[in-house]
Amino acid sequence: TAAQSLDDYTFEYKGFNFPKDEITPECIDSLEDFEIRDSDVFIVTYPKSGTVWTQQILTLIYAEEDAAEFKTTYERAPWLEFQEKGQDYNARPSPRLFASHLPYYLVPKALRNKKAKVIYIVRNPKDAMVSYFHFHNIMVKMEKTKDFSSFMDKYVNGKVMCSSWFDHIKGWYSHSDQFEMLFMTYEEMIKDLRAAVLKICTFLGKRLEDSAVDKIVKQATFKNMKNDPRANYEFLPEDVMHKDRGRFLRKGTIGDWKNTFTVAQSEFFDKVFQQKMKDLPLKFIWDI
Ligand code: A3P
Repeated sequence: TAAQSLDDYTFEYKGFNFPKDEITPECIDSLEDFEIRDSDVFIVTYPKSGTVWTQQILTLIYAEEDAAEFKTTYERAPWLEFQEKGQDYNARPSPRLFASHLPYYLVPKALRNKKAKVIYIVRNPKDAMVSYFHFHNIMVKMEKTKDFSSFMDKYVNGKVMCSSWFDHIKGWYSHSDQFEMLFMTYEEMIKDLRAAVLKICTFLGKRLEDSAVDKIVKQATFKNMKNDPRANYEFLPEDVMHKDRGRFLRKGTIGDWKNTFTVAQSEFFDKVFQQKMKDLPLKFIWDI
């Protein structure tokens, strides 16, 4: 059944809202000393910023090295913080891929010492917020907020799973020099997917034939991923996701927020944004 409040399905630990059933404080503490390999690659995002998209791209880039059959993005690049019982990440073959929503200060300390690579993807918060609003509606356990205004109120105050978008971005961006990190935007991936794939390859030190790059780009388009059972999350059971209420791969565009935000809501958010982000030299693309 749907949660009535944030506390029904999350708990706060070390300043961050974690999902209740999937993770424990002990799990989070144990990550500090999680053993990192130089070849590990971590995709880090605030929710709804292009995680599964980047999981798909990395899975495709490394597909040739993945001797096993091509698995779902989720299996190939599992969540660092949701290590499932019985799964031993230490037993995974290299190169290991991981996804994570953790704030910069809770990731394994070896990562903060530049061992292994981090790809941080950020998306303009208006689109990320609308995407998260819809996501709450399709995920069975997540709180259903009666209207978008109330959701925005929770979002700007960090009263959602994974806490504040502002804190996440500010934390990672301002500590980026501690990490071996590629900082990318969802919008640059939309504008030129091929350039984004090449940028990722360069960062990873992977040289691929043009034809291999073409193939990756094709398989990572929104249209293709929507129909790709390895990437579209439609394998989730009905008791996890209401499939009749919408799809995980929903729209995949820049500027869809305009269909949801009223002018007043947009102005309100712009003010909050200016105030909270004033020290950060980050420019966002808000529409196409
Ligand atoms: P929308 O809800 O705006 O469509 P995450 O994986 O971090 O949860 O992010 C999900 C968002 O990324 C969704 O946004 C989803 O549609 C979008 N997305 C996933 N794959 C994409 C692709 N290939 N191209 C564009 N957007 C994509």
